[in-house]
Amino acid sequence: MQVKSFEEYQQVYRKSVEQPEQFWEDIANNFLWKKKWDKVLDWNFKEPRIEWFKGAKLNITENCLDRHLEKNGDTPAIIWEPNDPHEDHRILTYQQLHDKVCQFANVLKNNGAKKGDRICIYMPMVPELAIAVLACARIGAIHSVVFGGFSAQSIADRIKDAECNIVITADGSFRGTKEVPLKSIIDDALVQCQSVQKVIVLTRSHTPVSMIKGRDVWWEDEIKKVETQRNMECPAEEMDAEDMLFILYTSGSTGKPKGVVHTCGGYMVYTGYTFSNAFQYQPGEVYFCTADIGWITGHSYIAYGPLTQGATSVMFEGIPTWPNAGRLWDIVEKYKVNILYTAPTAIRSLMSFGDDVVKGKDFSSLTKLGSVGEPLNEEAWHWFDEKIGKGNCPIVDTWWQTETGGFMISPIANVTPLKPGYATLPLPGVQPLLVDENGKEIAGNGVSGNLCIKFPWPGMLRTTYGDHERCRTTYFATYPNLYFTGDGCLRDEDGYYRITGRVDDVLNVSGHRIGTAEVENAINMHSSVVESAVVGYPHDIKGQGVYAFVVCPNLHDDSELTKKDIMMSVSRIIGAIARPDKIQFVSGLPKTRSGKIMRRILRKIAEGDTANLGDTSTLLDPAVVEEIKAGAL
Ligand code: WT7
Repeated sequence: MQVKSFEEYQQVYRKSVEQPEQFWEDIANNFLWKKKWDKVLDWNFKEPRIEWFKGAKLNITENCLDRHLEKNGDTPAIIWEPNDPHEDHRILTYQQLHDKVCQFANVLKNNGAKKGDRICIYMPMVPELAIAVLACARIGAIHSVVFGGFSAQSIADRIKDAECNIVITADGSFRGTKEVPLKSIIDDALVQCQSVQKVIVLTRSHTPVSMIKGRDVWWEDEIKKVETQRNMECPAEEMDAEDMLFILYTSGSTGKPKGVVHTCGGYMVYTGYTFSNAFQYQPGEVYFCTADIGWITGHSYIAYGPLTQGATSVMFEGIPTWPNAGRLWDIVEKYKVNILYTAPTAIRSLMSFGDDVVKGKDFSSLTKLGSVGEPLNEEAWHWFDEKIGKGNCPIVDTWWQTETGGFMISPIANVTPLKPGYATLPLPGVQPLLVDENGKEIAGNGVSGNLCIKFPWPGMLRTTYGDHERCRTTYFATYPNLYFTGDGCLRDEDGYYRITGRVDDVLNVSGHRIGTAEVENAINMHSSVVESAVVGYPHDIKGQGVYAFVVCPNLHDDSELTKKDIMMSVSRIIGAIARPDKIQFVSGLPKTRSGKIMRRILRKIAEGDTANLGDTSTLLDPAVVEEIKAGAL
């Protein structure tokens, strides 16, 4: 599945465009199927309807686990590094991971889980999170992982939307010096959720929890039951290629997060292929992705992609800055990491601590670096290259999205010539194009436009859970017959792609996707707020910060306290990741005569670019702009 030279890449790429079905069929033949497909691809972007490997039967966990056992059962699958560096690390071989997944799959069955059920997972970054995910896939249940930083309200919204019947969680999680009471947050969420019958709770932090009779059970007790039943094997459920594998919620430009749906066959082929090819993974290499399994990066490139390739992955529970800003480098040293895949925000944050934290660390094991989540600015690119890669490691800047399932535009390590700040070229099988506002293709090089994809790829989303129309309008209706990414993009003279950021009302804060409408809804729930508008502004470390303009007519004497109250509201309603960095109280928002908020103007003010506000003549009340400008933070 790996191309070995740039010439070969160009040749394979051409074939993948001219004969996509043939190309993907050849790739799919590298995986284990219970039955092969009747048809490689059936599709239209109008409904949309996308079916890959129709008629094929498989179970993704047999590709992630069983097929490695004979030759590589003793190969480490997961090396787990705890939050506290003094706690022992854990290593799970493929055989051990297989056995634990089967055991827990039986726990799920004992607790009433069956194929097609939706199961919510809200857990810390411990091996049991990967085990829970794979156990769902083993029995054909659809997992919906919710990142451990989301609030009770956010969890409840997701559980209700997917009608989950089981929740898997832990007593609490450790992140640096903080302890997050996961089970107690789940209890708050479940007050609103009628569909949940069982909660399975892993012991991690020994935080006291309340266990409800008949509903809540301990992970460890349930495993013991399976052991006494001698019920350690669990045959893999036979799945259709197009059966749902998981739902992962992500923010868009409207208020409610949507459940992006990925299916078994195409997602497996796509994540396995892109992992193998872009990183040029070789057996025995140690790979470390610093993401959390709660996001798509963790799903595709901690769990499924690397495991289908029999790779050895480091999984890290903690945060890069605790006990100090050298933590990631200590982990690289400790496990002799060869491939390090991280995010621009982490690189910029660690950069800001100065060279002392990298001095004296042994980076000699590193051969390849990767980045994901937002544009990797040139300063950070060079620092990563020089200080970490020692000028010897290609930087694989992977552009992709929750919806794409896997890498789309990305260098292939040691194959694609690099350019700082560029995701470079589309991987084989990916057909990008740029369009103008009217959907007209902008051909040629040295051009910018909105990034679309014109042909399906196996890892693409199939629908948004419970609301196919929303999937159509969000991704396939802006430009007929194209998938619209929501990103702006530049294609330079060499045909290289540089992602310039979102062109919709979606922010990218520390690589986390946040809908401005979602934050506004949360702010507007505060009792003294009349209305608000949220925009992004450039932030040295986070990439973008959250700037909220808030109309609060009867402001309390202590307006600083009101700001804190509003921040607290956002934390409670969405989660701390969406908390505004800046709040400016204003007497009104700039609106057009038809009542539309002119965000363009607010964005300029938040960016500090007040000299270029552009045309303000259509405003209902131009005076409000002067006031907002004067009070800008
Ligand atoms: C958005 C998707 C894909 C996993 C992490 C985020 C931005 C992602 C890059 C990159 C420039 C990037 C885009 C995209 N983005 N990777 N390498 N260069 N921008 O997944 O939460 O679905 O967010 O992240 O704006 O649309 P996500």
